[in-house]
This record gives sequence, C-alpha cells and structure tokens, in this order.
Amino acid sequence: MKILVTGGTGYIGSHVAVELINQGHTIEIVDNLSNSQIEVLDKIEQITSTRPVFHEVDLLDQLALDHIFDNTSFDLVIHFAGLKAVAESIEQPLRYYDNNVTSTINLLESMQSHSVKNIIFSSSATVYGDQGVDQCVETMPTGIKLTNPYGKTKYMIEEILKDLAISNPEFSIISLRYFNPIGNHTSGLLGENPNGIPNNLMPYIMKVATGELPELNIFGNDYDTEDGTCLRDYIHVVDLAKGHLAAIDGLKPGFTAYNLGTGRPTSVLEMVHAFEKVSGKPLPHKFAPRRPGDLPKLYANPKKAEQELKWHANLTIEDAIKDTLTFISNK
Ligand code: NAD
Ligand code: UFG
Repeated sequence: MKILVTGGTGYIGSHVAVELINQGHTIEIVDNLSNSQIEVLDKIEQITSTRPVFHEVDLLDQLALDHIFDNTSFDLVIHFAGLKAVAESIEQPLRYYDNNVTSTINLLESMQSHSVKNIIFSSSATVYGDQGVDQCVETMPTGIKLTNPYGKTKYMIEEILKDLAISNPEFSIISLRYFNPIGNHTSGLLGENPNGIPNNLMPYIMKVATGELPELNIFGNDYDTEDGTCLRDYIHVVDLAKGHLAAIDGLKPGFTAYNLGTGRPTSVLEMVHAFEKVSGKPLPHKFAPRRPGDLPKLYANPKKAEQELKWHANLTIEDAIKDTLTFISNK
C-alpha cells in the first residue's frame, strides 16, 4: 500500500514507519518537526535500508497538504501528528484545539477531495475520561469528565471521524486508543527524547537513570492499590506499532475503535523495581503528593483487538526497559 504517515518522525510514528516499511508498504512522512528531529529519517533508513519521502509541512497549511495529495495517490493515511502534553494543553488550549482539531479537519478535507477514504487515527485511553472503572472497554461511552484540552481534542476528533463515516459510507476509519506506550526499537536507534523535564513516567525515569535528574518523584502512595501507587497499562511501542499493521488488515467501512493495551496493570513502584532489576542499579526515588487529575487505575480490556484484529501485545515491561537502556547507551 501507499501510505501517508503524519507525525512520522515522532516517537510512535517512527516506530510504525519501520514496521510498515518492513512489511513492504511504501510510505511518505509529513511532519512539521515541532516535536521531532529530521535525523529520525536517517535512523529509519539505518534500520530498514529505505528512506521514506519526507514533507516538512504543517498540517495547518491546507495548500501544502493538498499539494502532497496532488502528487501521490495514497491508499491510506495513518494520522499521528498532534501535540500531546496534558499540562501544556491546559495552559495553551487554543493552540491545542487548533493544532490537533483544525489540522485533522484539514487532513480529512484533503483526503476527501483526493478520494482517499482510509484512515487510522492515534487516539488515547484518555477519551474514556473518569468513569470510576479500572478497565476500559470500547463499549463504554467516551468523553466523560475529561479534565484537559488534550484529552478533549482526542474525543472531538473521534466525534468528527464518526460523523464523517456517517456522511460518507465509503470511509473506513479506525481509531486506536493507546494506553501507555514505553520502550523503543530494539536497535536503540529510535526512541522518546523529550527536551526539558519530562511529564511522563518512563522519560522521567530515563533522565534519572542517566543522572540528568536527581530522583523520581512518585506522585502519590496512598491510592487504593496494593502498594498505594497508580496502576497503568504500559505497552511496548513495537507491540503498539504492530497493532497498526493489524488495523490495516482490519479496515472496514464506518468508524471502529480499538484499545491497544496489554490488559496488565503495573504500579509506579513495580515499574521502578523492574527498572532497578533490569539495569542492576538503584533508581533514586521518593514519594511526592498526588498529581492532580491522575486516575488511580487505568488499563485496557484488549479483547476486541485480539478477536477482530488478531493482535495482542507480546512484549513485557522488562523488554521495554532493556530496549530503553540500549537507547540511553546510544545517546
Ligand atoms: P510525538 O510528539 O513524538 O509525535 C508527534 C509528531 O507530530 C511530532 O513529530 C510533531 O513534530 C508532529 N506534529 C505535531 N503537530 C503537527 C502539525 N500541526 N503538523 C505536522 N506535524 C505535526 O508524539 P507521539 O508520542 O509519537 O504520539 C503520536 C500520537 O499518538 C499523538 O497524536 C498522540 O497524541 C498520540 N498518543 C500518544 C501517547 C503517548 O503516550 N505517547 C498516548 C496516547 C496517544
Ligand atoms: N508518574 C510519577 N512520576 C512522574 C511521572 C509520572 O509518579 O514523574 C506517575 C503518574 O502519577 C501516573 C503514572 O506515573 O500514575 C503514569 O504517568 P504518565 O504521565 O506517564 O502517563 P498517564 O497515564 O498520566 O498519561 C498517559 C499519556 C496521556 C494520556 C493518558 C491516557 O501521557 O497523554 O496516558 O491514555 F492521555
């Protein structure tokens, strides 16, 4: 297939790009490099011996986007591009709504006017919001008590995609609701490398492991969980990437959502101990107050993807930690 990958130089997009190329697909990447580096293309080439065509274009630029579609006839778009920092979205809501929602509408306009009718969208478990349940299943309603603009953009985009599918039955749309992606390609060439102080657990742990930050703050140890720290569903990014290959095979008319998670909850403290075990070194950490907005427990029911897409996560958090250590040692 000829596939346009938006946000393809980013963390998840670059891993999916590798899997797509390895499966024989021809891909082009569009990214404005607002949160990724051009050198990622070299790494993709190193791993796959193929350099994807790259367009440095902002999806807010409809003319430039149309130009990409004018020149190539795509079978499918996989749409990763977007801003994703929860706290930043609370400070800059307009930027988030514009960058995530407006740019998706632009993309869909370009697709529609060029008769491209297949799209896979990077959604998030955050669309479930706070429903007082631990394990999320696709039959649950979405958009319940969403606490930040980032999460709302994912919810709004899903609603737009549903309406588009109703208006035009030729559209085949899959929304993949990711849980917590961690790890990187086993080569250690690709990975997540945020600037500044990371918000997410694994990037923060990485900076503590390299000595760039002194210690990990564990946000809350008084939750109603076995060790008092929050439970999440950490999925190896390579498993997540393979979920996209399965989704390609599962495309069908209409809008369909799938959870991509392992179904296995891990606590923050368990993650810290696993990191210490795999690395063989202590990871300095201390308990800190709860982080506002955190849910105590959030993990996937992954059965729908298992049954309909014939996909399930194979890798463990230990695999992810091992690959993370390779990535750190390559930096
Ligand atoms: P990332 O920031 O590494 O990648 C996103 C890419 O999109 C970046 O390369 C960035 O430069 C690009 N981009 C952003 N806005 C753009 C625009 N207007 N035009 C062109 N390019 C633009 O993030 P990621 O972790 O790879 O996430 C990919 C997608 O998955 C995002 O939509 C994110 O919301 C979603 N997601 C991520 C997680 C996670 O924990 N990483 C969880 C759930 C969902
Ligand atoms: N945590 C710490 N210390 C840190 C960072 C995180 O204790 O320095 C804890 C958090 O309190 C939470 C867990 O580690 O209990 C995971 O936190 P992350 O920030 O890594 O991930 P979240 O589950 O909060 O959020 C992620 C994505 C969001 C997405 C959400 C739901 O970052 O984009 O999953 O899918 F919306």
